[in-house]
Amino acid sequence: MSRAIYPGSFDPVTLGHLDIIKRSADIFDEVIVGVLNNTQKTPLFSVTERVNMLNEAVAGIPNVTVKNFDGLLIDFARDNDINVLVRGLRAVTDFEYELQIAQSNRKVAPDIDTVFLTTSIEYAYLSSSIVKEYARYGVCVDGFVPECVLQKLKEKYTIE
Ligand code: PNS
Repeated sequence: MSRAIYPGSFDPVTLGHLDIIKRSADIFDEVIVGVLNNTQKTPLFSVTERVNMLNEAVAGIPNVTVKNFDGLLIDFARDNDINVLVRGLRAVTDFEYELQIAQSNRKVAPDIDTVFLTTSIEYAYLSSSIVKEYARYGVCVDGFVPECVLQKLKEKYTIE
């Protein structure tokens, strides 16, 4: 059985992330979305909120589960007995950062590989940071995020 982890901060999950999740679920028998509980950053949404929103967003995809993790990604992969990581590449600006992480991970964990999916063109501009920035200033981010995320953003900000 082929299994993969799609890791990230998902603060919050966007339609771009969801696109990568759906396409990964078509490729692999099982996909675990790994939500990083990064204690060094102050996210907009708690890890529980991020996991809950993802669970709602992936509810119709039977071979996807959502889990949170602390610490190193390679340890999370090993704990789940998985040796494939999936990351999305939007543009050349992502490439250097992603290459560095993938190569570092491969250096310390040669048994774990990273595969990259190119983001669908309609989501090439999209990021969680852009979503948060617009929402903070009251812009409706309908079309950027799943409905459940839009509702949560409306609870935090006054959005048209
Ligand atoms: O959505 P993001 O914030 O771009 O995801 C980055 C993530 C979570 C994949 C990366 O920061 C990560 O793997 N963090 C866990 C800690 C770790 O393994 N660090 C070593 C490689 S940077």
